[in-house]
Amino acid sequence: MEKVRVGILGTGGIAKIHAWALTSVSHIKLVAVASRSLERARDFAKGRWSGSLYAPGDIGLSYEIERAMNYDEILESDEVDAVYVCLPNALHYEYCMRAMENGKHCFVEKPMTVKAEEAWKLVKKAKEMGVVLQVGHMWRFHNDVKFARRVVKEGIIGDIVRVKAYSIHVFFYPKGWFVDPRLSGGGALLDMGVHAIDTVQFVLGEGYSSVYADISTSYINYPVDDTDVLFLKTISGIPVLVESGWAQMFSSKKEASIEIYGEKGFVSVFPTFAITSLAGEYGEFRPSKPESHESLEMFRRQAENFAKSILGIEEPLCSGEDGAKVIGVVEAAYESSKKGVFVDVNSTGVNP
Ligand SMILES: NC(=O)c1ccc[n+]([C@@H]2O[C@H](COP(=O)([O-])OP(=O)(O)OC[C@H]3O[C@@H](n4cnc5c(N)ncnc54)[C@H](OP(=O)(O)O)[C@@H]3O)[C@@H](O)[C@H]2O)c1
Repeated sequence: MEKVRVGILGTGGIAKIHAWALTSVSHIKLVAVASRSLERARDFAKGRWSGSLYAPGDIGLSYEIERAMNYDEILESDEVDAVYVCLPNALHYEYCMRAMENGKHCFVEKPMTVKAEEAWKLVKKAKEMGVVLQVGHMWRFHNDVKFARRVVKEGIIGDIVRVKAYSIHVFFYPKGWFVDPRLSGGGALLDMGVHAIDTVQFVLGEGYSSVYADISTSYINYPVDDTDVLFLKTISGIPVLVESGWAQMFSSKKEASIEIYGEKGFVSVFPTFAITSLAGEYGEFRPSKPESHESLEMFRRQAENFAKSILGIEEPLCSGEDGAKVIGVVEAAYESSKKGVFVDVNSTGVNP
């Protein structure tokens, strides 16, 4: 296989960003798009839209996708080697499962699923079918996040003492399927919190053991949460505070940020810099290739990593296991908030 032939499921906001990313990668040919409406799929295939909710300006690319299909057709098509699942959260499981059962490699947007049990079933199916399963935690591909990971990994700030992270949309009031629990599976925690939970596990290089959470709907009359405060412990015992939310009136910095406090220093992402006193002298430094918080490059790198994983050149930087661990944390957090107690992340019984 010289180029991976990819089909996109969904024609919404993130599908557009991915169409841009996929057509920017030389190892990929974007061959198909699927929708509930053939007309919408055809419109999307013309690639003459400018901007999306996530990139409001013109992102400067027009393209043509050969085939417009419905969801059943794309899952069975011989013209497609791999799919990008860009559908409402609660549909991820069914469409990923069906795609992999048909031998297709699968990229699934975050949150991987709405239940941990489903996520681990997808991991198992990918292994059984010998296909690549990658999850869309795209912050792993951002230069500033990679900088923080390197600072921690190389011991530049010493042993880690504590972490603070958040992923918050200010003055953002979602509607439609996002606030319908049958399609979203949850609110701001599943939508936004998963970014902070995953980015911290990526930067620290370890997962979580327990969580205490206070999850509420405090701003709007949603049937899902808009305000989440999580107190987590990593497997090695590092305390991590994660906040997520929609419709908030204020967030301290950008819409997402991480602060990592080490014994010998500190590293932050957005704003991105590190402080160290490792050699006995105070020093401050920044990434050599800083990126804006809004950079779309991370989506392009993510697509490239997906294709190269399928071609056997690389491993997925965000595997099915990584995505499933995040869903395990989310499930435990919702349980903790309901019961008012710490919940063992492994006690969900599905995170091996
Ligand atoms: N990585 C990120 O930062 C990021 C950012 C945004 C979203 N996401 C994730 O990407 C996924 C899609 O989000 P989005 O913002 O692109 O949503 P969206 O704009 O509402 O698009 C969702 C698409 O799903 C399709 N769909 C199929 N069945 C549907 C149903 N029953 N109800 C509603 N839509 C249905 C629709 O396409 P048709 O009508 O054409 O079938 C729709 O365009 C979500 O899981 C979200 O969490 C990730």
